[in-house]
Amino acid sequence: MKKKFIYALALAGLFSVSLKAQTPIYLDDNKPIEERVKDALSRMTLEEKVKLCHAQSKFSSAGVPRLGIPELWMSDGPHGVREEIQWNSWADAGWTNDSCTAFPALTCLAATWNPEMSAIYGKAIGEEARYRKKDVLLGPGVNIYRTPLNGRNFEYMGEDPYLASIMVVPYIKEVQKNGVAACVKHYALNNQELWRGHIDVELSDRALYEIYLPAFKASVIEGGTWSIMGAYNKLHGEHCCHNDLLLNQILKRDWKFDGCVITDWGGAHDTREAALNGLDIEMGSYTNGLTSESEFTYDDYYLATPYRKGLKDGTYPLSTIDDKASRILRMIFRTAMNRQRPWGSFTSEEHYKVARTVAEEGIVLLKNNLVDKKKPALLPIDASKYNKILVVGENASRSLTQGGGSSVLKVKKEVSPLEALQMMYGDKIIHAKGYESGRPMYSHVDEIPTEVVESLRNEAIEKAKEADLVIYVGGLNKNHQQDCEAADRITFGLPFGQNELIEGILKVNPNMVMVLMSGNAVEMPWIKSVPAIVQAWYPGSEAGNALANILCGKINPSGKLPFSFPSKLTDNGAHAFDELSYPGDSIKQIYKEDILVGYRWHDTKKIPALFPFGHGLSYTTFTYGKAVFSTKSMDRKGKIEVTIPVTNTGNIEGKEIIQLYIGDDKCSLLRPLKELKHFDKVTLKPGETQKVKFTITVDDLTFFDDKQYEWIAEPGKFKVYIGSSSTHIHSITEFTLL
Ligand code: GLC
Repeated sequence: MKKKFIYALALAGLFSVSLKAQTPIYLDDNKPIEERVKDALSRMTLEEKVKLCHAQSKFSSAGVPRLGIPELWMSDGPHGVREEIQWNSWADAGWTNDSCTAFPALTCLAATWNPEMSAIYGKAIGEEARYRKKDVLLGPGVNIYRTPLNGRNFEYMGEDPYLASIMVVPYIKEVQKNGVAACVKHYALNNQELWRGHIDVELSDRALYEIYLPAFKASVIEGGTWSIMGAYNKLHGEHCCHNDLLLNQILKRDWKFDGCVITDWGGAHDTREAALNGLDIEMGSYTNGLTSESEFTYDDYYLATPYRKGLKDGTYPLSTIDDKASRILRMIFRTAMNRQRPWGSFTSEEHYKVARTVAEEGIVLLKNNLVDKKKPALLPIDASKYNKILVVGENASRSLTQGGGSSVLKVKKEVSPLEALQMMYGDKIIHAKGYESGRPMYSHVDEIPTEVVESLRNEAIEKAKEADLVIYVGGLNKNHQQDCEAADRITFGLPFGQNELIEGILKVNPNMVMVLMSGNAVEMPWIKSVPAIVQAWYPGSEAGNALANILCGKINPSGKLPFSFPSKLTDNGAHAFDELSYPGDSIKQIYKEDILVGYRWHDTKKIPALFPFGHGLSYTTFTYGKAVFSTKSMDRKGKIEVTIPVTNTGNIEGKEIIQLYIGDDKCSLLRPLKELKHFDKVTLKPGETQKVKFTITVDDLTFFDDKQYEWIAEPGKFKVYIGSSSTHIHSITEFTLL
């Protein structure tokens, strides 16, 4: 009996070994991904490889059914998982189980200046994408805020390459821990929406390397992003989706990117360039990337039949398809065929808490002046002092997760400011819509009849007369020519007659707390008359709760601006020149402000911003002690430790963002007056002092020399600016690089 048992065991063992031997390497989770890629590639036909390289539907690319390699499913967007879209149409699929959590738009995340917020954000949105069975999340966006008119700035992380570089990395890492690929976009120079499909951007190599590439570089090198989305526009005459300099030379050669380049939808325009210039997956072609479809099949794509024919007749080297297919297989093994990945979760209380926490940390208190010297400032609101609080403005009740373009969301929950303030202050709240903006639409603007405008305005002004306090909730919205994809804003001022409404209310009631919901700076002609202003961004599902918590003082505001608010449009660098600078001549555009983007422009040209980059107030106050330097000179291998004691001199706990800028006055090339190189956000109890530490190395001193085509630091004197914004500077200290 025993012999038989041992014999049976041996047979079973043999059988399993033979089975193991038969299990292909590419299916074996225990094998390194590169071996699996190589094995899968060796089993595929040319046709199967080419099919990987282009869409099979609006939001999916093919797998290899014969080998059991699944297709890749992609979904927008950067601040929430978009509803299911139909197979071959932009229309929604009409599912009833795809209402998601709307997280704050990324300007709000950037305004937290807190990488921990980026980490919890990436984890939560990655869990939602995983739960919705998506393999690629089409976000985050890190295009630099060059002009306040760009319709998509709300999706990005502001004007400074260092802030965007620090804030994008944790988001990517945490999304990808869910086995979902981040797809950082739009690479590169998609800094406006007008003519985005073809505008040929011209700029200096210094501006390219110092301003517009760093956040993408950090996404690849520190973030390890598994995919990148090519931008619609051109650089040096080549579309960015198949641009040899951007993709082959910088991204894949210099940065050693091992992931996939995916087009923006409709961003491919040429088979030869797509074959040779580093594109891996073509999506959305034969559409304008947005709406119109043409009569074609997916096999007509540039990287489909035309490419396959070119491979067969030797026009294109087979090495190109093997590189593309390897990258796509690598992404499939990291995502769709990654059996270790977690299961995700969707619209959980935990996710709502993340949305609220990020919003609370990102909302910026811009102004909080005394109306009357004998009374405290209007914020935080002490409701015991008021009988009637008027909430006025369409953004108090309008859904701001709808519209905006591809980042549109179908949400399970969106608490409006009005709802939250009614919950908080009960029947003290009276309401007036104040203005009307029409339907959230992609390419059209509703004309609002004059009589409607006037009646809404008059009603609001009448109600303001009887109120003790006015909370104005306005700003922009996700309509066409507002904060919306595919078009830019046409004015820097507030739309929908808001300025007249604001002036009318102020005439009858000066006690106004203004809340601006937007992803862009706006002109503020009434700035002197409004005592308190809050920049609340687009906070998502928990918008109202986060805002109410800030206004009532439950949460002490700690956000700081990720971009400058110019007083007037021409104070902004992109608008200081001719049309060729912005918006271009519809064919070409020249970034004439060069490296002087945002505060770099304001500082160097000595044009004060209305609210500067890095500005944000608190309900408490902080003092900065003397900055202590470990040394005042260093060589290239050295470092300088800087310690700054920061004290909370108020009577409530608060968070402060200490900013370190470096200036290189004596450089052989033009450099901005100063540039952000370090920051830290600390929480301080009343009376508490913390010593904030930064380490300066030679990397903080370099600039891109476009003659030597490399980053260099010239010896000599440098200045360290310690500030609580880019203009509120507490100390300037010189040191020498030997
Ligand atoms: C859009 C956007 C891009 C989006 C894609 C898919 O045109 O530019 O950000 O991810 O198409 O919707």
